[in-house]
Amino acid sequence: MESRNSIVKSLLFIFSTSVVLALTLINSSFSQTATNQGSIEFKNKNETIRNLPLAEFERYLTKQTLKIFEIHEKRDRIYQVYSAASLFDLIYGNDWRTAEEIIFICEDYYQPSIPVTKFLQYNAYFAFASADNHDFTLKNSLQNDEEVRLGPLYLIWDNLNSRELLQEGAVDMPYQITGIELTTFAARFPVIFPPNSAPPEAHRGSLHFRKHCFACHTINGQGSGKAAELNYPVSVTEYIQPTYLKLWINNPTAIRLNSKMPPLPAEIPDRDKVIDEIIAYLTAMRTVKPQSETTHSQNSNQPDDQ
Ligand code: HEC
Repeated sequence: MESRNSIVKSLLFIFSTSVVLALTLINSSFSQTATNQGSIEFKNKNETIRNLPLAEFERYLTKQTLKIFEIHEKRDRIYQVYSAASLFDLIYGNDWRTAEEIIFICEDYYQPSIPVTKFLQYNAYFAFASADNHDFTLKNSLQNDEEVRLGPLYLIWDNLNSRELLQEGAVDMPYQITGIELTTFAARFPVIFPPNSAPPEAHRGSLHFRKHCFACHTINGQGSGKAAELNYPVSVTEYIQPTYLKLWINNPTAIRLNSKMPPLPAEIPDRDKVIDEIIAYLTAMRTVKPQSETTHSQNSNQPDDQ
């Protein structure tokens, strides 16, 4: 009786494991197909110039393998990639090299705007699969260890030999990219600039904010929809005390245990000063609201301030 029971148990175990395995296989081949059918939309100054299905990339571009320090996981990973410069050449010709910024549109609403100069200075790649027997996903230690899908495209940098790239953290490594757009920052986001009369630290803070915060947050309704608006109608500097705002940027989980906001990268130079300047920028923005005299008026996607 005893042994028959255990045979039944092991059979049940084998059966249930194979069901799980079969389901996993169905599931992964399904998501594989779904991803392959996805197209990437390319824009130049708000106009769509091409939709290129991911499956067609290999016709025009060479597949490569690249090992990087995976900043989200704090360890090395290997990916299958296409060179970013070759992709931009294919779509935009030489135009992209003299453009100002490239914006990445992602399924999770993350939306970084990266200066073209960074792509001219460092080697960037679009990963489309793993090359280390790992699913094309990662465990994002900067986002409360959330397991995230990386496809269709994931922007990575050849960072193993670059201290500067390692210091910058993961802000310029968007995943789930479905759109790529060449643009001019001031034309695309006219209402996020501090007034000319603002102190120099607020102007410097504006640049830090663009680099470290703007990919997730909006100011006056402009930017990314991934996280909260920080200025309109009430600025965060008006309801969060300065010491707590500083602590928040320094280490969000010191305030909210399960926060999904990453801390400002630990390695950036003059980190304390950078935080103060970001707060100076946010403070200066209290006087800049949509449709006030200090802002341009031709912007269409700003919130209504009536
Ligand atoms: C990867 C996305 C991401 C980045 C980058 C990011 N944040 Fe956040 N932020 C969040 C999320 C998500 C929340 C929501 C709170 C939570 O999850 O605890 C948040 C919340 C906040 C809040 C609290 C707002 C409120 O009313 O409660 C402030 C202030 C803030 N962020 C400021 C910043 C600043 C300043 C930077 C740049 C140094 C920044 N964030 C960078 C995702 C981000």
